[in-house]
Amino acid sequence: MRIKKRLQLIASKIPKGSKVADIGTDHAYLPIYLVTEGICPKVIATEVLPGPYLKAKENIERFGFMDRIELRYGSGFKPLTSKESDVAVISGMGAMTIIDIFEESKQIASSFQTIILQPMKNVAELRKYLLTHCYKIIDEDVCKEDGKFYEVLTIKSVGTLAFVEADVLFGPILRHKKDPITVSYMKYQEKHLKMIIESLKDSRRTDSKQMIFEYKKRLDVLKEAIK
Ligand SMILES: C[S@@+](CC[C@H](N)C(=O)[O-])C[C@H]1O[C@@H](n2cnc3c(N)ncnc32)[C@H](O)[C@@H]1O
Repeated sequence: MRIKKRLQLIASKIPKGSKVADIGTDHAYLPIYLVTEGICPKVIATEVLPGPYLKAKENIERFGFMDRIELRYGSGFKPLTSKESDVAVISGMGAMTIIDIFEESKQIASSFQTIILQPMKNVAELRKYLLTHCYKIIDEDVCKEDGKFYEVLTIKSVGTLAFVEADVLFGPILRHKKDPITVSYMKYQEKHLKMIIESLKDSRRTDSKQMIFEYKKRLDVLKEAIK
């Protein structure tokens, strides 16, 4: 089965033989790929909306994987019990939805060995939440699909954690990576920040000066981070 680069990157972060829970599975492409490729013997897939739930069920049945992919209905981690899975995946959702999922099931969230997150937007907000709630970011990757960058965060729950602003804004691991895709992602972010600053210069907003100051500070953090 062929899946898109974003899901391939997520699959590559899952240790072979892990018990995985895919939260918000939608079409169930990731669980089907994990089983087909022999990465996972069994996967739990969850979904909160009836439409995607039925789509997942149809696809699982089409591949004949009913005994290997267990589809459960419900929000976030709620359909799971502690220690049932080693790895949880939450992908293709906004950061705020991901934070809500952590907030509604704090105990289960902290029970996984590893959680793999692929937020669609507000990555800095998500990193801030994770770092202030003692989730260590143990790896960060980026891929580009159809002209858009996607970050993938691998995290684990730890006792205590120290971090700096650059970790929140540009990632504790990612900003040190020098592979071509990460370098082009950092350049893209630098260009984007400069564009925001330029557009604020022509803005009639009463707080534009303050915002320019804030974005320039962010740009300095980025330049320092990727030096
Ligand atoms: C855009 S799809 C992403 C599907 C897949 N995870 C991927 O990365 O391609 C987001 C899915 O998450 C589901 N979803 C949203 N909030 C959820 C929640 N709290 N619990 C479970 N599923 C949720 C939606 O119904 C939708 O099917």
